[in-house]
Amino acid sequence: MQLRFEVLAKWKRRNKKMVTVKFTFEDNRIPERTVTGNYAGMQIVEITEENNIHLNHNCGEVCACSTCHVYVEKGNEFLPEISDREEDFIDRAINPRLESRLGCQCVIEDEDAYLEVHIPDQAKIIGHEH
Ligand code: FES
Repeated sequence: MQLRFEVLAKWKRRNKKMVTVKFTFEDNRIPERTVTGNYAGMQIVEITEENNIHLNHNCGEVCACSTCHVYVEKGNEFLPEISDREEDFIDRAINPRLESRLGCQCVIEDEDAYLEVHIPDQAKIIGHEH
């Protein structure tokens, strides 16, 4: 009986859904990093903070600046649709592109999501981390 529970617990651990995010950096001195965890419901900004990855977020994550600007190169389907307000602030970011998003507005909606996120050079952005 005990063995059955152990096998079941092991199977559950192995099949637990996880979010994976691969981060690459415009600052080519920073090596790419892939992080995996229980990140569903979290913003990209929160995931960077949890993993000690530098991403500015000056306005306190309320979509009122563009310092948390990132490029979501894969996995946009796991995020909420972009709002008019977010688009507005992306227009004020440095080098906005089609895949631009604001890291604080990107809440991971799927517990099995895979994303690739490129982080602009934070040295070019006047900002701070919390
Ligand atoms: S932290 Fe200001 S818009 Fe994301």
